[in-house]
Amino acid sequence: MAKTHVTMKVNGAEVEGLVEPRTLLVHFIRENLQLTGTHVGCETTHCGACTVDLDGMSVKSCTVFAVQANGSEIITVEGMANPDGTLSALQEGFRMMHGLQCGFCTPGMIMRAHRLLQENSSPTEQDIRMGMSGNLCRCTGYQNIVRAIQYAAAKLNNVEFKEAAE
Ligand code: FES
Ligand code: FES
Repeated sequence: MAKTHVTMKVNGAEVEGLVEPRTLLVHFIRENLQLTGTHVGCETTHCGACTVDLDGMSVKSCTVFAVQANGSEIITVEGMANPDGTLSALQEGFRMMHGLQCGFCTPGMIMRAHRLLQENSSPTEQDIRMGMSGNLCRCTGYQNIVRAIQYAAAKLNNVEFKEAAE
């Protein structure tokens, strides 16, 4: 099938590639760009393991064709660490609060949480659970993911992180 030339900015760098019209963005990211943090956990758009940030939105990259993302700006989990290599507040939060086990959902979780905290810098637990409801996790039971995001929000807001009483 004829291929289309696409260009986009991924984690701050201009990238390009030749894709078929049917090529999913997640496959372009994983196979053409070798950014394999973005995962595939379903074929029904439920799991959110493929979530990336596309032009300021959380998008499930299994549900977008690469050609649709032509000209867009994308952030993947590989772009989340600070420029000096230290972990971002969210990455640190997931580690500190044990918000991951197998790690398969984690890139999508972090990308969604990244956008969630732009949408709402001081979310309640309810806001977090609702805001993360497009991302499934088989391991954690979500509780520590909520804490991880609360940890990151506190760090970004420069306030002390207080764990909710059990
Ligand atoms: S791979 Fe499951 S929502 Fe994209
Ligand atoms: S840590 Fe295993 S699926 Fe979430």
